[in-house]
Amino acid sequence: MSTRHLIDLDSISSDQLKDILDLAKVIMKHPQYFCDSGHGKIMATLFYEPSTRTQMSFQSAMLKLGGKLVGFDNPDSSSVSKGESLRDTVRVVSNYADLIVIRHPCEGAAQAASTFSRCNVINAGDGGHLHPTQTLTDLFTLINTKGTLSNLTIGICGDLKNGRTVHSLIKSLVRYKNNKFVFISTPQLNVPDYLKQIVINAGCEYSESISLSDSISKIDVLYMTRIQRERFESDEDYKNQKGVFVLDKEKMKKAKYGLKILHPLPRVDEIDYEVDDDSRAVYFDQTEYGMYARMALILYMLENSEKKLDARPESNSDKCCCNPRCITNHEHYLPNLYIKVDGRTVCEYCDHTQPICAE
Ligand code: NCD
Repeated sequence: MSTRHLIDLDSISSDQLKDILDLAKVIMKHPQYFCDSGHGKIMATLFYEPSTRTQMSFQSAMLKLGGKLVGFDNPDSSSVSKGESLRDTVRVVSNYADLIVIRHPCEGAAQAASTFSRCNVINAGDGGHLHPTQTLTDLFTLINTKGTLSNLTIGICGDLKNGRTVHSLIKSLVRYKNNKFVFISTPQLNVPDYLKQIVINAGCEYSESISLSDSISKIDVLYMTRIQRERFESDEDYKNQKGVFVLDKEKMKKAKYGLKILHPLPRVDEIDYEVDDDSRAVYFDQTEYGMYARMALILYMLENSEKKLDARPESNSDKCCCNPRCITNHEHYLPNLYIKVDGRTVCEYCDHTQPICAE
C-alpha cells in the first residue's frame, strides 16, 4: 500500500484492491486455513459512534483469524469521558494493539488518528465523509452476486449527501470500466459536488432522478440507504426528508430480473419488509460477505504492519476548515492541511472545498 493506513480506498491501487477481494474469496471458501493467521495479534476497535455490523463484523473477522480484541463501543466508558483527546487515546491504544479500527462522528477523524498511531489504522466511518470497509463489503457482494464490477448501471438512492457509504462506493466504482450512475435523491440530499467531479473526471456518466419508481427499470444494481438522521441540524429537517423513497413490491415489478439490491444497513423504512423475500434482495448476505472482506483486509494490513510513528505534517495555513464537522474544528491541536484539487483548495481531512477568502 502507498500508505500503511486505510483511511480511503484511494490510497490502495486497483491491483491491491483486487488482491484483497481475491483473498476474501479464498477465505470464504476455506476459512479453516486461516483460523490461526491472526494468532498473537491484537486489534483495537475504537467506536465513538454507534455500530452493529461494522463493529461486530470486524470483531468476528479478527476472532475467526485467531486474533484478540480490545476497545470500546461507548466512549463514555473510556477516558474520553474525562476529556482525553483523540491524539492521546490513539497514541496509548497503539502501544497495546497491532491494528486500530476507528469510527468517529467527525469527518477526517481517522486521518487525524493515523498521525498519532504507532500501528496501522482503519477508518470504519468518519462522520458523513467516508466508509472504505463498507465499500470493500459492497464490492465483494457485487462480485459474488452480480459476477462483475464493470459495465453496470448503479442506482444509488436515499441520503446521498450524508451517506458515507455512498461516497466511498462511488469513488471505488468509477475505477471499473463502463459503469454508469443514477443518483436518486431529493435535491436537498444530492451527492456532494466534489464526488460528481470525481465521476466526471473518471469519464463515467451519471444522471440524477427524484423518482425511484421511474429509475428502477434501468438499473442493474440498486444501493438503498437510510436518511442519516444524526447528520441533520433539526428533527424538522429530518422529518421533511424521511419516507420519500420506499422500495416495495410494486416498484420491484418494474425492476430487471437480474437486479441486485444492496443496503449497508441499518434499514429504517426505505425498504419494505416484503422485499426481503425477493431473491434480488442481497442485503442480508452482504453482511456476511463483509466479514470475509474484513478478514482479508485485516490479514493484508497485518502483513504490512510496522510499529512506528510517522513524521507529522505541519500546518500549511493558519485558516481553520470551513466545515464545522471537520475533526480540526473539534481537536484544535491538529495542523490545518489543505491541498489543491482542480483549482480548488480542499481540506485534507474532510475533503471540503474552502471559500476563496480562506486561501
Ligand atoms: C452505515 C454507516 O454506519 O455509515 N452502516 C454500516 O456501517 N453498515 C450506514 C448507515 O448507518 O446508514
